[in-house]
Amino acid sequence: MVIRFVSPLGDVEQRTRQQRGDELFIKIFFTPEGTANPSPLYRNLQDEVPVHVSGFGGALLTRYDDCRQLLRDNRFGAGDGMPDGSFGGADTPELALRRERQAKRIAEGSLSMLALDPPSHTRQRSLVSRAFTPRMIERLKPRIVDLTDRCLDDLAAAGTGDVMELLAKPLPVSVISDMLGVPDADWPEIRGRVSELVAVLEPNATLEQLQLAEAANDVLFDYFRALVATRRSDPRDDLISGLIAAADGDDRLTENEILAVSVLLFAAGAETTTNLIGNAVHQLLSHPDALNRLWADPSLVPSMVEEVLRHDSPVQLDARVCLEPATFAGLDFDEGDRVITLLGAANHDPAHFSNPDAFDITRFAATDRGNSPEPVMSFGSGIHYCLGASLARAEGQIVFERLLQRFDPIEPAGDRVYRNSLVLRGLLSCPIRVSSSR
Ligand code: HEM
Repeated sequence: MVIRFVSPLGDVEQRTRQQRGDELFIKIFFTPEGTANPSPLYRNLQDEVPVHVSGFGGALLTRYDDCRQLLRDNRFGAGDGMPDGSFGGADTPELALRRERQAKRIAEGSLSMLALDPPSHTRQRSLVSRAFTPRMIERLKPRIVDLTDRCLDDLAAAGTGDVMELLAKPLPVSVISDMLGVPDADWPEIRGRVSELVAVLEPNATLEQLQLAEAANDVLFDYFRALVATRRSDPRDDLISGLIAAADGDDRLTENEILAVSVLLFAAGAETTTNLIGNAVHQLLSHPDALNRLWADPSLVPSMVEEVLRHDSPVQLDARVCLEPATFAGLDFDEGDRVITLLGAANHDPAHFSNPDAFDITRFAATDRGNSPEPVMSFGSGIHYCLGASLARAEGQIVFERLLQRFDPIEPAGDRVYRNSLVLRGLLSCPIRVSSSR
Protein backbone atom coordinates (compact mmCIF):
# COMPACT_ATOMS: atom_id res chain seq x y z
CA MET A 1 0.00 0.00 0.00
CA VAL A 2 1.45 3.32 -0.98
CA ILE A 3 -1.08 5.93 0.14
CA ARG A 4 0.80 8.94 1.51
CA PHE A 5 -0.16 12.23 3.10
CA VAL A 6 0.50 15.10 0.68
CA SER A 7 2.07 17.12 3.52
CA PRO A 8 4.09 14.39 5.19
CA LEU A 9 3.47 13.91 8.90
CA GLY A 10 6.26 13.02 11.27
CA ASP A 11 6.65 9.25 11.80
CA VAL A 12 5.41 9.47 15.37
CA GLU A 13 2.37 11.59 14.47
CA GLN A 14 1.53 9.28 11.57
CA ARG A 15 1.77 6.19 13.77
CA THR A 16 -0.27 7.80 16.54
CA ARG A 17 -3.02 8.79 14.12
CA GLN A 18 -3.05 5.39 12.52
CA GLN A 19 -3.33 3.67 15.89
CA ARG A 20 -6.10 5.99 17.06
CA GLY A 21 -8.05 5.62 13.81
CA ASP A 22 -7.76 1.83 13.84
CA GLU A 23 -8.69 1.70 17.53
CA LEU A 24 -11.89 3.68 16.81
CA PHE A 25 -12.67 1.60 13.72
CA ILE A 26 -12.33 -1.62 15.74
CA LYS A 27 -14.52 -0.19 18.50
CA ILE A 28 -17.27 0.76 16.03
CA PHE A 29 -17.38 -2.54 14.21
CA PHE A 30 -16.10 -5.18 16.60
CA THR A 31 -17.32 -4.28 20.11
CA PRO A 32 -20.83 -4.62 21.55
CA GLU A 33 -20.87 -0.98 22.70
CA GLY A 34 -19.82 0.24 19.23
CA THR A 35 -22.43 -1.91 17.53
CA ALA A 36 -25.13 -0.69 19.91
CA ASN A 37 -24.24 2.99 19.62
CA PRO A 38 -21.61 3.97 17.05
CA SER A 39 -22.56 7.68 16.99
CA PRO A 40 -20.04 8.99 19.58
CA LEU A 41 -17.28 6.96 17.91
CA TYR A 42 -18.13 8.38 14.49
CA ARG A 43 -17.75 11.82 16.11
CA ASN A 44 -14.35 10.86 17.57
CA LEU A 45 -13.19 9.73 14.13
CA GLN A 46 -14.47 12.89 12.44
CA ASP A 47 -12.88 15.15 15.07
CA GLU A 48 -9.57 13.36 15.48
CA VAL A 49 -8.80 11.40 12.28
CA PRO A 50 -11.37 12.31 9.62
CA VAL A 51 -9.03 11.03 6.90
CA HIS A 52 -7.27 7.95 8.09
CA VAL A 53 -4.64 5.72 6.47
CA SER A 54 -5.53 2.46 8.10
CA GLY A 55 -3.23 -0.29 9.26
CA PHE A 56 -5.80 -2.65 7.66
CA GLY A 57 -4.66 -1.58 4.22
CA GLY A 58 -6.59 1.35 2.85
CA ALA A 59 -7.72 4.91 3.45
CA LEU A 60 -10.85 5.57 5.48
CA LEU A 61 -13.00 8.63 4.84
CA THR A 62 -15.58 9.71 7.42
CA ARG A 63 -16.81 13.19 6.45
CA TYR A 64 -19.92 13.65 4.34
CA ASP A 65 -18.22 15.86 1.72
CA ASP A 66 -15.18 13.59 1.36
CA CYS A 67 -17.34 10.45 1.00
CA ARG A 68 -19.68 12.07 -1.50
CA GLN A 69 -16.87 13.54 -3.61
CA LEU A 70 -14.86 10.34 -3.66
CA LEU A 71 -17.85 8.26 -4.79
CA ARG A 72 -18.38 10.78 -7.63
CA ASP A 73 -14.70 10.86 -8.65
CA ASN A 74 -13.99 8.75 -11.74
CA ARG A 75 -10.34 8.25 -10.72
CA PHE A 76 -11.77 5.78 -8.17
CA GLY A 77 -13.99 2.85 -9.10
CA ALA A 78 -15.02 -0.73 -8.56
CA GLY A 79 -11.87 -2.01 -10.25
CA ASP A 80 -13.78 -3.99 -12.90
CA GLY A 81 -14.23 -6.95 -10.63
CA MET A 82 -10.94 -6.97 -8.76
CA PRO A 83 -11.86 -8.43 -5.38
CA ASP A 84 -11.27 -6.09 -2.48
CA GLY A 85 -12.61 -8.54 0.03
CA SER A 86 -9.81 -8.55 2.51
CA PHE A 87 -8.39 -5.73 4.55
CA GLY A 88 -4.65 -5.59 4.16
CA GLY A 89 -4.75 -7.57 0.93
CA ALA A 90 -2.87 -10.47 2.54
CA ASP A 91 -2.88 -13.69 0.56
CA THR A 92 -5.42 -15.77 2.41
CA PRO A 93 -7.49 -18.77 1.23
CA GLU A 94 -10.53 -16.45 1.42
CA LEU A 95 -8.99 -13.93 -0.96
CA ALA A 96 -7.78 -16.72 -3.24
CA LEU A 97 -11.35 -18.01 -3.52
CA ARG A 98 -12.69 -14.54 -4.25
CA ARG A 99 -10.03 -14.04 -6.93
CA GLU A 100 -10.73 -17.42 -8.53
CA ARG A 101 -14.48 -16.72 -8.66
CA GLN A 102 -14.01 -13.21 -9.98
CA ALA A 103 -11.65 -14.48 -12.70
CA LYS A 104 -14.36 -16.96 -13.70
CA ARG A 105 -16.98 -14.20 -13.79
CA ILE A 106 -14.74 -11.95 -15.88
CA ALA A 107 -14.05 -14.84 -18.30
CA GLU A 108 -17.72 -15.73 -18.73
CA GLY A 109 -18.94 -12.09 -18.78
CA SER A 110 -21.13 -12.47 -15.72
CA LEU A 111 -19.97 -9.51 -13.63
CA SER A 112 -22.80 -7.37 -12.34
CA MET A 113 -22.80 -3.58 -12.58
CA LEU A 114 -21.74 -3.21 -8.94
CA ALA A 115 -18.32 -4.63 -9.85
CA LEU A 116 -17.93 -2.75 -13.15
CA ASP A 117 -16.44 0.60 -14.16
CA PRO A 118 -17.35 2.67 -17.21
CA PRO A 119 -17.86 1.99 -20.04
CA SER A 120 -19.09 -1.53 -19.10
CA HIS A 121 -20.97 -0.19 -16.07
CA THR A 122 -22.66 2.56 -18.07
CA ARG A 123 -23.86 0.10 -20.70
CA GLN A 124 -25.20 -2.53 -18.28
CA ARG A 125 -26.87 -0.04 -15.93
CA SER A 126 -28.53 1.81 -18.78
CA LEU A 127 -29.95 -1.43 -20.25
CA VAL A 128 -31.19 -2.60 -16.84
CA SER A 129 -32.75 0.84 -16.20
CA ARG A 130 -34.94 0.35 -19.26
CA ALA A 131 -36.69 -2.51 -17.45
CA PHE A 132 -36.26 -1.47 -13.80
CA THR A 133 -38.16 1.81 -14.10
CA PRO A 134 -39.91 4.15 -11.63
CA ARG A 135 -43.18 3.20 -13.37
CA MET A 136 -42.56 -0.47 -12.66
CA ILE A 137 -41.99 0.31 -8.97
CA GLU A 138 -45.17 2.42 -8.87
CA ARG A 139 -47.12 -0.51 -10.36
CA LEU A 140 -45.58 -2.87 -7.82
CA LYS A 141 -46.88 -0.94 -4.79
CA PRO A 142 -50.26 -2.72 -4.47
CA ARG A 143 -48.38 -6.05 -4.51
CA ILE A 144 -46.06 -4.78 -1.76
CA VAL A 145 -49.18 -3.95 0.28
CA ASP A 146 -50.53 -7.51 -0.25
CA LEU A 147 -47.21 -9.12 0.62
CA THR A 148 -46.85 -6.92 3.72
CA ASP A 149 -50.37 -7.84 4.83
CA ARG A 150 -49.56 -11.54 4.47
CA CYS A 151 -46.61 -11.09 6.86
CA LEU A 152 -48.72 -8.99 9.25
CA ASP A 153 -51.45 -11.68 9.26
CA ASP A 154 -48.84 -14.12 10.59
CA LEU A 155 -47.79 -11.58 13.23
CA ALA A 156 -51.42 -10.91 14.22
CA ALA A 157 -52.11 -14.63 14.55
CA ALA A 158 -49.03 -15.14 16.72
CA GLY A 159 -49.59 -11.99 18.83
CA THR A 160 -45.96 -12.11 19.76
CA GLY A 161 -42.90 -13.10 17.74
CA ASP A 162 -39.63 -12.08 16.17
CA VAL A 163 -40.36 -9.25 13.74
CA MET A 164 -37.16 -10.09 11.83
CA GLU A 165 -38.37 -13.64 11.05
CA LEU A 166 -42.02 -12.75 10.50
CA LEU A 167 -41.66 -9.54 8.49
CA ALA A 168 -38.25 -7.93 7.96
CA LYS A 169 -36.53 -10.99 6.42
CA PRO A 170 -39.27 -12.56 4.29
CA LEU A 171 -40.79 -9.38 2.83
CA PRO A 172 -37.87 -7.97 0.76
CA VAL A 173 -37.05 -11.38 -0.78
CA SER A 174 -40.73 -11.90 -1.61
CA VAL A 175 -40.93 -8.46 -3.24
CA ILE A 176 -37.84 -9.04 -5.42
CA SER A 177 -39.02 -12.59 -6.29
CA ASP A 178 -42.44 -11.27 -7.25
CA MET A 179 -40.94 -8.44 -9.28
CA LEU A 180 -38.68 -10.83 -11.22
CA GLY A 181 -41.52 -13.27 -11.82
CA VAL A 182 -40.40 -16.16 -9.58
CA PRO A 183 -43.43 -18.40 -8.88
CA ASP A 184 -44.62 -18.31 -5.22
CA ALA A 185 -43.86 -21.99 -4.69
CA ASP A 186 -40.14 -21.33 -5.25
CA TRP A 187 -39.85 -18.43 -2.78
CA PRO A 188 -38.79 -20.47 0.29
CA GLU A 189 -35.89 -22.07 -1.64
CA ILE A 190 -34.80 -18.67 -3.03
CA ARG A 191 -35.00 -17.11 0.45
CA GLY A 192 -32.64 -19.73 1.91
CA ARG A 193 -30.09 -19.24 -0.87
CA VAL A 194 -30.22 -15.45 -0.62
CA SER A 195 -29.30 -15.46 3.07
CA GLU A 196 -26.23 -17.60 2.22
CA LEU A 197 -25.35 -15.40 -0.75
CA VAL A 198 -24.91 -12.10 1.08
CA ALA A 199 -21.77 -13.28 2.91
CA VAL A 200 -19.79 -12.14 -0.16
CA LEU A 201 -20.53 -8.56 0.86
CA GLU A 202 -18.57 -8.98 4.10
CA PRO A 203 -14.83 -8.26 3.80
CA ASN A 204 -14.11 -10.56 6.74
CA ALA A 205 -16.29 -13.52 5.67
CA THR A 206 -14.83 -16.93 6.56
CA LEU A 207 -13.83 -19.48 3.93
CA GLU A 208 -16.81 -21.64 4.83
CA GLN A 209 -19.23 -18.70 4.46
CA LEU A 210 -17.69 -17.79 1.11
CA GLN A 211 -17.95 -21.38 -0.14
CA LEU A 212 -21.61 -21.49 0.87
CA ALA A 213 -22.20 -18.11 -0.78
CA GLU A 214 -20.60 -19.22 -4.04
CA ALA A 215 -22.61 -22.45 -4.01
CA ALA A 216 -25.78 -20.39 -3.46
CA ASN A 217 -24.76 -18.13 -6.33
CA ASP A 218 -24.41 -21.18 -8.63
CA VAL A 219 -27.83 -22.52 -7.59
CA LEU A 220 -29.44 -19.12 -8.22
CA PHE A 221 -27.71 -18.82 -11.63
CA ASP A 222 -29.07 -22.25 -12.62
CA TYR A 223 -32.52 -21.34 -11.34
CA PHE A 224 -32.64 -18.07 -13.30
CA ARG A 225 -31.17 -19.70 -16.42
CA ALA A 226 -34.19 -21.99 -16.50
CA LEU A 227 -36.59 -19.11 -15.78
CA VAL A 228 -35.05 -16.98 -18.55
CA ALA A 229 -35.50 -19.87 -21.01
CA THR A 230 -39.18 -20.12 -20.05
CA ARG A 231 -39.74 -16.37 -20.40
CA ARG A 232 -37.98 -16.20 -23.76
CA SER A 233 -40.67 -18.43 -25.24
CA ASP A 234 -43.51 -17.10 -23.08
CA PRO A 235 -42.89 -13.47 -21.98
CA ARG A 236 -44.91 -12.13 -19.06
CA ASP A 237 -45.35 -8.78 -17.36
CA ASP A 238 -42.34 -9.26 -15.08
CA LEU A 239 -38.79 -7.98 -14.73
CA ILE A 240 -37.10 -11.09 -16.20
CA SER A 241 -39.13 -10.60 -19.39
CA GLY A 242 -38.26 -6.88 -19.22
CA LEU A 243 -34.53 -7.62 -18.94
CA ILE A 244 -34.73 -10.02 -21.91
CA ALA A 245 -36.51 -7.37 -24.00
CA ALA A 246 -34.37 -4.38 -22.90
CA ALA A 247 -32.50 -3.04 -25.91
CA ASP A 248 -30.43 -0.04 -26.86
CA GLY A 249 -30.42 -0.16 -30.68
CA ASP A 250 -29.01 -3.62 -31.39
CA ASP A 251 -27.42 -3.94 -27.97
CA ARG A 252 -29.06 -6.27 -25.44
CA LEU A 253 -28.08 -7.84 -22.13
CA THR A 254 -26.40 -11.21 -22.62
CA GLU A 255 -27.84 -14.28 -20.92
CA ASN A 256 -25.06 -14.21 -18.27
CA GLU A 257 -25.68 -10.52 -17.61
CA ILE A 258 -29.40 -11.16 -17.04
CA LEU A 259 -28.49 -13.89 -14.55
CA ALA A 260 -25.90 -11.67 -12.83
CA VAL A 261 -28.38 -8.79 -12.54
CA SER A 262 -31.13 -11.06 -11.18
CA VAL A 263 -28.80 -12.36 -8.47
CA LEU A 264 -27.46 -8.85 -7.78
CA LEU A 265 -30.97 -7.58 -7.06
CA PHE A 266 -31.25 -10.15 -4.25
CA ALA A 267 -27.72 -9.59 -2.97
CA ALA A 268 -28.06 -5.79 -2.96
CA GLY A 269 -31.74 -5.44 -2.14
CA ALA A 270 -32.75 -8.14 0.33
CA GLU A 271 -30.73 -7.88 3.54
CA THR A 272 -30.36 -4.12 3.15
CA THR A 273 -34.12 -3.63 3.19
CA THR A 274 -34.45 -6.23 5.97
CA ASN A 275 -32.14 -4.02 8.03
CA LEU A 276 -34.06 -0.88 7.19
CA ILE A 277 -37.28 -2.47 8.51
CA GLY A 278 -35.61 -4.01 11.57
CA ASN A 279 -33.69 -0.83 12.44
CA ALA A 280 -36.92 1.19 12.20
CA VAL A 281 -38.79 -1.17 14.55
CA HIS A 282 -35.81 -1.02 16.92
CA GLN A 283 -35.74 2.81 16.97
CA LEU A 284 -39.51 3.08 17.45
CA LEU A 285 -39.46 0.62 20.35
CA SER A 286 -36.62 2.66 21.86
CA HIS A 287 -38.52 5.95 21.33
CA PRO A 288 -42.15 5.38 22.39
CA ASP A 289 -42.83 9.11 21.98
CA ALA A 290 -41.95 8.82 18.27
CA LEU A 291 -44.20 5.77 17.92
CA ASN A 292 -47.13 7.63 19.53
CA ARG A 293 -46.53 10.60 17.27
CA LEU A 294 -46.70 8.33 14.19
CA TRP A 295 -50.00 6.85 15.33
CA ALA A 296 -51.32 10.41 15.72
CA ASP A 297 -49.85 11.59 12.39
CA PRO A 298 -49.10 8.79 9.89
CA SER A 299 -48.06 11.40 7.30
CA LEU A 300 -44.72 11.41 9.18
CA VAL A 301 -43.95 7.83 8.08
CA PRO A 302 -41.81 8.80 5.01
CA SER A 303 -39.77 11.21 7.14
CA MET A 304 -39.34 8.52 9.81
CA VAL A 305 -38.09 6.02 7.19
CA GLU A 306 -35.60 8.58 5.90
CA GLU A 307 -34.42 9.28 9.43
CA VAL A 308 -33.83 5.57 10.05
CA LEU A 309 -31.83 5.38 6.80
CA ARG A 310 -29.71 8.25 8.11
CA HIS A 311 -29.45 7.41 11.79
CA ASP A 312 -28.89 3.64 11.38
CA SER A 313 -27.51 3.34 7.83
CA PRO A 314 -28.24 -0.26 6.72
CA VAL A 315 -25.09 -0.17 4.57
CA GLN A 316 -22.29 1.23 6.71
CA LEU A 317 -19.52 1.47 4.15
CA ASP A 318 -18.66 1.52 0.47
CA ALA A 319 -15.29 0.55 -0.98
CA ARG A 320 -13.41 1.81 -4.02
CA VAL A 321 -10.08 1.20 -5.66
CA CYS A 322 -7.87 3.90 -7.15
CA LEU A 323 -7.80 3.55 -10.95
CA GLU A 324 -5.00 6.06 -11.69
CA PRO A 325 -2.59 8.11 -9.55
CA ALA A 326 -4.70 10.70 -7.69
CA THR A 327 -4.55 13.24 -4.89
CA PHE A 328 -7.64 13.34 -2.74
CA ALA A 329 -8.44 14.71 0.74
CA GLY A 330 -4.78 15.45 1.43
CA LEU A 331 -3.61 11.98 0.36
CA ASP A 332 -1.63 10.77 -2.64
CA PHE A 333 -3.02 7.51 -4.04
CA ASP A 334 -1.46 5.11 -6.53
CA GLU A 335 -3.34 2.82 -8.87
CA GLY A 336 -4.66 -0.15 -6.89
CA ASP A 337 -4.85 1.65 -3.52
CA ARG A 338 -8.07 1.06 -1.65
CA VAL A 339 -10.37 3.50 0.04
CA ILE A 340 -13.42 3.04 2.23
CA THR A 341 -16.17 5.63 2.65
CA LEU A 342 -17.92 5.30 6.01
CA LEU A 343 -21.49 6.10 4.97
CA GLY A 344 -22.74 5.61 8.55
CA ALA A 345 -20.36 8.31 9.79
CA ALA A 346 -21.13 10.64 6.86
CA ASN A 347 -24.80 10.46 7.85
CA HIS A 348 -23.81 11.71 11.33
CA ASP A 349 -21.65 14.59 10.09
CA PRO A 350 -22.66 17.70 12.08
CA ALA A 351 -21.61 19.87 9.14
CA HIS A 352 -24.66 18.48 7.28
CA PHE A 353 -27.14 17.27 9.88
CA SER A 354 -27.93 19.37 12.92
CA ASN A 355 -27.90 17.44 16.20
CA PRO A 356 -26.91 14.35 14.17
CA ASP A 357 -27.09 11.78 16.94
CA ALA A 358 -30.73 12.55 17.81
CA PHE A 359 -33.39 10.28 16.29
CA ASP A 360 -35.85 12.87 14.97
CA ILE A 361 -38.74 11.52 12.90
CA THR A 362 -39.69 15.04 11.73
CA ARG A 363 -36.22 15.85 10.34
CA PHE A 364 -37.22 15.09 6.74
CA ALA A 365 -40.88 16.12 7.00
CA ALA A 366 -42.24 18.04 4.00
CA THR A 367 -43.08 21.03 6.17
CA ASP A 368 -39.40 21.40 7.01
CA ARG A 369 -38.34 21.27 3.36
CA GLY A 370 -37.31 24.97 3.42
CA ASN A 371 -34.33 24.14 5.63
CA SER A 372 -34.30 20.39 5.29
CA PRO A 373 -30.91 18.63 5.55
CA GLU A 374 -28.82 17.19 2.74
CA PRO A 375 -29.79 13.92 1.10
CA VAL A 376 -28.81 10.90 3.15
CA MET A 377 -25.65 9.05 2.05
CA SER A 378 -27.26 5.68 2.78
CA PHE A 379 -27.67 4.75 -0.89
CA GLY A 380 -24.16 5.85 -1.89
CA SER A 381 -23.49 8.52 -4.50
CA GLY A 382 -22.33 8.87 -8.09
CA ILE A 383 -22.63 6.29 -10.83
CA HIS A 384 -23.27 3.33 -8.48
CA TYR A 385 -26.02 5.17 -6.58
CA CYS A 386 -28.46 2.49 -5.44
CA LEU A 387 -30.73 1.43 -8.29
CA GLY A 388 -33.33 0.20 -5.79
CA ALA A 389 -33.49 3.30 -3.55
CA SER A 390 -37.08 4.18 -4.44
CA LEU A 391 -38.15 0.53 -4.09
CA ALA A 392 -36.52 0.33 -0.63
CA ARG A 393 -38.20 3.58 0.46
CA ALA A 394 -41.57 2.36 -0.88
CA GLU A 395 -41.22 -0.91 1.06
CA GLY A 396 -40.25 0.91 4.24
CA GLN A 397 -43.15 3.33 3.97
CA ILE A 398 -45.76 0.67 3.15
CA VAL A 399 -44.59 -1.61 5.98
CA PHE A 400 -44.93 1.11 8.61
CA GLU A 401 -48.19 2.51 7.26
CA ARG A 402 -49.73 -0.97 7.46
CA LEU A 403 -48.10 -1.91 10.79
CA LEU A 404 -49.33 1.26 12.51
CA GLN A 405 -52.80 0.92 11.03
CA ARG A 406 -53.20 -2.66 12.21
CA PHE A 407 -51.54 -2.73 15.59
CA ASP A 408 -51.70 -0.62 18.73
CA PRO A 409 -49.81 -1.16 20.98
CA ILE A 410 -46.54 -2.51 19.59
CA GLU A 411 -44.22 -3.42 22.44
CA PRO A 412 -40.84 -5.08 22.99
CA ALA A 413 -41.08 -8.72 24.07
CA GLY A 414 -37.46 -9.63 24.78
CA ASP A 415 -33.86 -8.72 24.05
CA ARG A 416 -32.88 -7.41 20.65
CA VAL A 417 -29.74 -8.97 19.17
CA TYR A 418 -27.51 -7.16 16.67
CA ARG A 419 -26.06 -9.00 13.69
CA ASN A 420 -22.33 -9.40 13.50
CA SER A 421 -21.47 -7.56 10.32
CA LEU A 422 -19.03 -4.98 9.10
CA VAL A 423 -20.88 -3.73 6.05
CA LEU A 424 -24.51 -4.12 7.09
CA ARG A 425 -26.04 -2.60 10.22
CA GLY A 426 -29.06 -4.47 11.50
CA LEU A 427 -30.65 -6.87 13.93
CA LEU A 428 -30.64 -10.64 14.04
CA SER A 429 -33.73 -10.81 16.22
CA CYS A 430 -36.26 -8.37 17.60
CA PRO A 431 -39.12 -9.93 19.59
CA ILE A 432 -42.30 -7.84 19.74
CA ARG A 433 -45.84 -8.13 21.07
CA VAL A 434 -48.75 -6.62 19.14
CA SER A 435 -52.47 -6.14 19.64
CA SER A 436 -54.91 -5.25 16.89
CA SER A 437 -55.90 -1.57 16.78
CA ARG A 438 -59.22 -0.82 18.34
C1 HEM B 1 -32.49 0.15 2.51
C2 HEM B 1 -32.18 -0.59 1.47
C3 HEM B 1 -30.97 -0.38 0.61
C4 HEM B 1 -29.78 0.23 0.89
C5 HEM B 1 -29.36 0.91 2.18
C6 HEM B 1 -28.96 0.15 -0.31
C7 HEM B 1 -27.70 0.68 -0.42
C8 HEM B 1 -26.95 0.66 -1.58
C9 HEM B 1 -25.66 1.29 -1.72
C10 HEM B 1 -24.91 2.04 -0.63
C11 HEM B 1 -25.25 1.08 -2.99
C12 HEM B 1 -23.97 1.62 -3.64
C13 HEM B 1 -22.87 0.61 -3.60
C14 HEM B 1 -21.58 1.21 -4.12
O1 HEM B 1 -21.46 2.43 -4.28
O2 HEM B 1 -20.63 0.45 -4.32
C15 HEM B 1 -26.27 0.31 -3.66
C16 HEM B 1 -26.19 -0.15 -4.95
C17 HEM B 1 -27.16 -0.93 -5.54
N1 HEM B 1 -28.38 -1.29 -5.02
FE1 HEM B 1 -29.07 -0.81 -3.19
N2 HEM B 1 -29.66 -0.53 -1.26
C18 HEM B 1 -30.90 -0.86 -0.76
C19 HEM B 1 -31.92 -1.53 -1.42
C20 HEM B 1 -31.87 -1.97 -2.71
C21 HEM B 1 -32.93 -2.64 -3.40
C22 HEM B 1 -34.32 -2.94 -2.81
C23 HEM B 1 -32.47 -2.98 -4.64
C24 HEM B 1 -33.15 -3.71 -5.77
C25 HEM B 1 -33.99 -4.68 -5.61
C26 HEM B 1 -31.10 -2.49 -4.73
C27 HEM B 1 -30.30 -2.62 -5.82
C28 HEM B 1 -29.04 -2.05 -5.95
C29 HEM B 1 -28.22 -2.20 -7.14
C30 HEM B 1 -28.59 -2.98 -8.40
C31 HEM B 1 -27.04 -1.50 -6.88
C32 HEM B 1 -25.83 -1.37 -7.81
C33 HEM B 1 -25.91 -0.09 -8.61
C34 HEM B 1 -24.69 0.12 -9.49
O3 HEM B 1 -23.66 -0.52 -9.28
O4 HEM B 1 -24.81 0.93 -10.42
N3 HEM B 1 -30.78 -1.88 -3.54
N4 HEM B 1 -27.30 0.08 -2.78
